[in-house]
Amino acid sequence: MQEPRGSAATVDPDPTLEMAREVAEGLARQPKQIPAKYLYDPLGSQLFEAICKLPWYNITRAERNLLAAHAPAILPAAGGCDTVVELGGGSGDKLSVLLSAADGRALDVHLVDISAAALAQSERTLATHGSVALHSHLADYEAGLRGALRLRRPDGRALVLFLGSNIGNLSPGEADGFLLELRGACRPGDRLLLGADLVKPESELLLAYDDPLGLTAVFNKNVLARLNRELDADFDLYEYDHRVVWNADASRIEVYLESRSDQLVCVRGAGCCIRIDEYERIWTESSYKYEPAGIVEMGERAGFATREQWVEPEARFALTLFESER
Ligand code: AVJ
Repeated sequence: MQEPRGSAATVDPDPTLEMAREVAEGLARQPKQIPAKYLYDPLGSQLFEAICKLPWYNITRAERNLLAAHAPAILPAAGGCDTVVELGGGSGDKLSVLLSAADGRALDVHLVDISAAALAQSERTLATHGSVALHSHLADYEAGLRGALRLRRPDGRALVLFLGSNIGNLSPGEADGFLLELRGACRPGDRLLLGADLVKPESELLLAYDDPLGLTAVFNKNVLARLNRELDADFDLYEYDHRVVWNADASRIEVYLESRSDQLVCVRGAGCCIRIDEYERIWTESSYKYEPAGIVEMGERAGFATREQWVEPEARFALTLFESER
């Protein structure tokens, strides 16, 4: 990835080509799948922000409460950090909660998000923090992290925020791989704050991902509208139902779009036509749920040392602060 020096924004090349490739590959699999990151077009990002306000979706509120309560221990200053990198921060609200408790010291803040709309929203949210120099990276986690850490000062320390249970979208193997890569990009003293949702009763999990207002169903279906628009596909949006399954063995919520009929769908921009059977499901998202000890083990497998863990007992959500010793 090439980026102009001194520029505040970096952009990944050819996002539509990459989407075409990944969608064609996903729809050729059994079961058919669409990568979850494509849920976040401008409307999808806003729908997700609305989901965060639902009474049945507690992740965002629980995490915000933990951040507010433990800001002094988490804050960049606590670790002597001069750089904060937030991966997939969405609206920027949580970072803002954290920075509101800061002492106004100069900070470089790097926002990494695959949604331009989310980046723009974060920039507005964080504009009120005067001592912050903002850098936006329109990129996925890996490319954004590389871009952000390349721009950091030669000495200082970084605090990387991976919040909101964004890690829940990754399979255990992907999560290990990503944390390993993250650790590899760290210097001694760099920190990682990881927010992860915890296992809880199935009824609560199903309400969170199949809410009575149908907002999550709309969020899910919107990915097909996006493929229609951006990849010239012809999904009939009326012909799919939102389906949510708790897979206890894999410890994950699985989110699907289930076909109401036998249909032929063409995704011209991805150069493919596919048959979808009645009741066949397209897998659009996984949301892994953890146990507190499992989060610690995951970080330590990647070579991080655990500094602290805070658990919100009501909603069952955990924030874990790791430090890179190498
Ligand atoms: C943004 C991936 C953390 O898995 O809870 C919310 C996305 N999907 N409702 C999650 C989501 C349906 C969310 N993450």
